[in-house]
Amino acid sequence: MNRRIARHPILGDLEARQNVTIYFDGKPITAREEEPIAAALMGAGIRVFRRTKKRGEGRGVFCAIGRCTDCMMVVDGVPNVRTCITPVREGMRVATQFGYGAKPGTRE
Ligand code: FES
Repeated sequence: MNRRIARHPILGDLEARQNVTIYFDGKPITAREEEPIAAALMGAGIRVFRRTKKRGEGRGVFCAIGRCTDCMMVVDGVPNVRTCITPVREGMRVATQFGYGAKPGTRE
């Protein structure tokens, strides 16, 4: 499902860019080169990026400027990456983060 705004009433048309493929929980998603991971996921209709440790509640983009940590995910095996300020890269693997996302045997 593509949920992108191709023509914005104030900002105008979406500028032309190359497409890249990233993987969300193993599923391929088409992203636009240099856009933030969060934008690519939202463009694909994905809203839950991580789950809280105690209740397993879903979290996604809140501030979109790298301050709130609600968009943290595991990116290429690295937990706690703020996806709203991290650009996509061809072949990048993005996974839903559960809890603190610490590696096994550490803080979780
Ligand atoms: S949405 Fe707040 S840090 Fe990314």
